[in-house]
Amino acid sequence: MGHASAGRRILIASNRGPVSFTLGDDGRLRTRRGGGGVVSGLSSVAAQADVLWVCAALSDADRAAARDAPGGLLSLDGAAGGSAVRMLDIPPTVFHRAYNSVANSTLWFVHHMLYDTPNRPHFGLAFRREWESFRAYNSAFAEALAAAAGASIGATAAGAAGTGAAPARAAAPERGGPVRAVIQDYHLTLAPRMLAELRPGIRLAHFSHTPWAPPDYYRMLPDDIGREVLDGILGADHAGFLCQRWADAFIDCCEHILGAEVDRARQRVVHRGHVTGIGVHALGADADELIRRAAEPDVQARAAALAEAAGGRKLIVRIDRTELSKNIIRGLAAYRELLVTHPEWRGQVIHLAFAYPSRHDLPEYREYTACVQRLALEISDEFGTDEWDPLTLQVNDDYARSLAAYRLADVLLVNPIRDGMNLVAKEGPILSDRGCALVLSREAGAAAELSADALMINPYDVTGTAEALHQALMMTDSERRRRGASLARAAAALPPTRWFADQLAALDHPA
Ligand code: F6P
Repeated sequence: MGHASAGRRILIASNRGPVSFTLGDDGRLRTRRGGGGVVSGLSSVAAQADVLWVCAALSDADRAAARDAPGGLLSLDGAAGGSAVRMLDIPPTVFHRAYNSVANSTLWFVHHMLYDTPNRPHFGLAFRREWESFRAYNSAFAEALAAAAGASIGATAAGAAGTGAAPARAAAPERGGPVRAVIQDYHLTLAPRMLAELRPGIRLAHFSHTPWAPPDYYRMLPDDIGREVLDGILGADHAGFLCQRWADAFIDCCEHILGAEVDRARQRVVHRGHVTGIGVHALGADADELIRRAAEPDVQARAAALAEAAGGRKLIVRIDRTELSKNIIRGLAAYRELLVTHPEWRGQVIHLAFAYPSRHDLPEYREYTACVQRLALEISDEFGTDEWDPLTLQVNDDYARSLAAYRLADVLLVNPIRDGMNLVAKEGPILSDRGCALVLSREAGAAAELSADALMINPYDVTGTAEALHQALMMTDSERRRRGASLARAAAALPPTRWFADQLAALDHPA
């Protein structure tokens, strides 16, 4: 590969890449920008640095695009023949088991503590089969990264994607300084160890965008699998987290479950004779880009339509993926309680809940979306009048409409059960036209930076959330503007380029 000899080129790996494809009615492939927090964070980095971004083909259209492009190589915006993106054509069954069954139904549930434990999890033979696919998927990434780093491992990633085992061959150290690879998230927890074995000379970082479970919850994983995940991340030289709380939980798991030697003062874990530095790198919003985008005509038009529908009433806004951890049901229940305990708000406030679709291959997510829709209808039926609909729920994806809602919000509700960071809590204050009051869960990573000016809540406490909504609505204009400005400053302090540069610095200069 042409980029292999460029020593300081940065390799990024994440499940979801910067671009995805759909198949048009005319049979032609169309490109779309990839979605989600990881992608928005990394896209601005990738546009400014010499990066090769390895990602998975997520759909049949992606697979077709990956096969059409020589070596699976694309430009950042999806054109074949680029050199910024390598999309891996992992066999659909392997991908499905790794992504849906292990990453999203198991690791995600563990780290967000989402299990209904009398019934789930259930780690039987089927899970062992799924785990083999998770290994194969991680192996495909490790081999692609090793190949991109200039190793001669004798197998292409696409060819090895279904095999499961990483070939145990090390490459000679490359010229021009160590290659750096930054591997993202819970999908790719085994890849650092695999890559370190394939390419001992590489400098390797892993970054977790989720929370990390405390040992008592993490122990739910079968012992060997819990250890394999920890050992996988500890193949990296640096392991990054979004806040100290998640980093501490990881260190605790390394100590209690893996028996690794931990040094909390220096934030390091020593395992199998290798030192992994632990770092906290909070991720903020790209304020300049957000403000630029929010000034475009499509956002202006949606803002005008929303303002007209609001008719001068106050707006409580929430914007999420329809995701179990986002706690949308309790958020709606809190709004209902607000209208019961503070009837003075009836007719005076509208709740805009924009919950765009997510992970609909998983039955829990489809059922959750249906529950959200049922509860929203109940609230509209219970309180609505001819002149006033208390709630607007939208479950389709409309980015411009979300930006417009941020601009108009009087109150922004962000109440996750548990969240790695939560960028909504940061984007809202940056875009708010008049300064918004933020009602924020203490279980979101963003709480570490925003708690001084937000109204903090326990996400399980529906009555407490309703009361915080009341306080937020009652806030004086000057207080709201003051807090909003301070939230916006904190939210913009750590843009993605800085977040990424900090990780590279930690990798280059370990403590
Ligand atoms: O770690 C969180 C994350 O990976 C973010 O990118 C995003 O919020 C979400 O999960 C994306 O999930 P998915 O790629 O499954 O839609």
